[in-house]
Amino acid sequence: MINNYQIKTFEQYQEAYKRSVEDPEGFWADIADTFTWRKKWDKTLEWNFEEPDVKWFKGGKLNITENCLDRHLKTRGNKLALIWEPNDPKERFVRFTYKEMYERVCQFANVLKKNGVKKGDRVCIYMPMIPELAFAVLACARIGAIHSVIFAGFSAVAMADRINDAGAKMVLTSDGLNRGSKQIPVKRVVDEALETCPSVEKVIVVERLGWAVNMVEGRDVWYHDEVQGVSKECPAEEMDAEDMLFILYTSGSTGKPKGVVHTCGGYMIYAQYTFSNVFQYEESDIYWCTADIGWITGHTYLLYGPLLSGATTLMFEGVPTYPDMGRFWQVCDKFGVSIFYTAPTAIRSLMSGDIDHVLSYSLDSLKVLGSVGEPINEEAWHWYHTHVGKERCPLVDTWWQTETGGIMISSLANVTPTKPAHAAFPLPGIQPILVNSDGTEITENEVEGHLCMKFPWPGIIRTTYGDHERCRLSYFSTYKGLYFTGDGAKRDENGYYRIIGRVDDVINVSGHRFGTAEIEEAINHNEHVVESAVVGYPHDLKGQGIYAFVICKEKPEREDYLRAEIIETVVEKIGKIAKPDKIQIVSGLPKTRSGKIMRRILRKVAEGDTSNLGDTSTLLDPDVVDEIKEGAL
Ligand code: WTA
Repeated sequence: MINNYQIKTFEQYQEAYKRSVEDPEGFWADIADTFTWRKKWDKTLEWNFEEPDVKWFKGGKLNITENCLDRHLKTRGNKLALIWEPNDPKERFVRFTYKEMYERVCQFANVLKKNGVKKGDRVCIYMPMIPELAFAVLACARIGAIHSVIFAGFSAVAMADRINDAGAKMVLTSDGLNRGSKQIPVKRVVDEALETCPSVEKVIVVERLGWAVNMVEGRDVWYHDEVQGVSKECPAEEMDAEDMLFILYTSGSTGKPKGVVHTCGGYMIYAQYTFSNVFQYEESDIYWCTADIGWITGHTYLLYGPLLSGATTLMFEGVPTYPDMGRFWQVCDKFGVSIFYTAPTAIRSLMSGDIDHVLSYSLDSLKVLGSVGEPINEEAWHWYHTHVGKERCPLVDTWWQTETGGIMISSLANVTPTKPAHAAFPLPGIQPILVNSDGTEITENEVEGHLCMKFPWPGIIRTTYGDHERCRLSYFSTYKGLYFTGDGAKRDENGYYRIIGRVDDVINVSGHRFGTAEIEEAINHNEHVVESAVVGYPHDLKGQGIYAFVICKEKPEREDYLRAEIIETVVEKIGKIAKPDKIQIVSGLPKTRSGKIMRRILRKVAEGDTSNLGDTSTLLDPDVVDEIKEGAL
């Protein structure tokens, strides 16, 4: 019953799309009907984009884990739910059937309860890509606790900010983690973070490396001790469709990262519908999404979407380049992966290696390829399509955001047409429009504009945790009555969308979002720094690199020492993933008379294109531009 609403032909897509616009409530209600509800909803949709206030399936009662697990037990109890491939290819992989997964999740849920977690409590999860991470997330959902997963590459300071913002009561973590040839002491990072997190009462530690770690008496417990003798059954908490399911922090153009909130009912339906349609999932598929569960892609398309569909999902602990550049392809062959979903940055890094790393694997099992996280350039698209997909597999370029919950613009594999480097068409239920900077809609084709949505879909962000006004200001105030994505896009003569990239002060580094303000704030913590300005620039592997212009208190004796120190500061405040690629020490920044930094000029310098910097006459100190140009890295 799960794939009832799977679209199989282009005509069906057109019909579904038409209906979804003419009768959105009927369209989504029919899909929602195929799920398990404890009580049916009273009203399908209530919305306005002014406050904003969006409610899907109001009054409906459910638990998402009953839909991910319980409802499959009868027909798929012995089917594989999760395959876990460790970092080290010599270590044995582990598999869990739906029955086993159900039991593990219930046990984990009971351990949470035993340690004081209740419905509505926030639980922070800072864990490596091990099966317990998947169990932990679902265990929270089972008992109605709100999970906030923090990617285990963030620093202690970044973790503490997120824990405090959410007022989390518990942290779930591990002793350490494997990443390629390195081992990282995760628990130590948690200990450091918790020095400034008064809300956290308990820490549950899963053993991964077998390291001796500091355990704080009364606060820290080992998962393997706690789970002894715990029941493999745990009743699912009844949740309202609009109760919070999770918080996931993401960066915007201003201030600190914000907690994007998704709720139980709408997110569930949107995750499953998009998973099944975009990838054209079939019962026998082995599906692999390479994203970490710490990001939205891992939430929706490693965990919830596939499990809601009764699929077999593969989870990989390691990195694409360890022990060599063929690891992805070796794993595809090993498990007969049929649907493979990854990020352009991974493709670009593998492209730079010897082609034999791909050619020595058969990749016969692959049927569908996917891309997510940033625009995929044509070169990477062709390499992926030719060498991995053998020109046989459709490649879906899926555009979406943490805030959208699931895929918004993408082709449906083998069903709707594709075009290299184009996300193509909106999914049914999605009504994108392009607007000019003054907010007027651009209706014709062969145009470029700011990408907005004019109607809600079930997976839309509901609020930013603890600060609804911030949600309104960030997404619903730029253009009246519209959700603004922050992206610019083109629509070609045939209506295909191509996402160009951010039009705000957000940069996308290897598919990870950072606000320039957030990195500047980190840099400014360095005692030698007076002021800084960060911009993105095109980077062969990462998509965008981070270029920082920095003013120092006094001219440093050794610039390289200072640069290393600044990098240290960023690593401490945010994490290694936000390390600036280039740091230029400058004596001033190009500012307008009102004190605003002219980033346009800095972007040009960072791109290495200083031929036409536009009008600089309105600057406070035009000479500084020449100095910056000369010192460009
Ligand atoms: C960018 C990741 C072009 C975009 C799911 C968006 C993309 C931001 C694509 C969201 C794509 C994501 N083509 N750009 N297929 N997918 N983006 O929240 O700028 O981590 O706004 O969600 O990534 O990043 P986020």
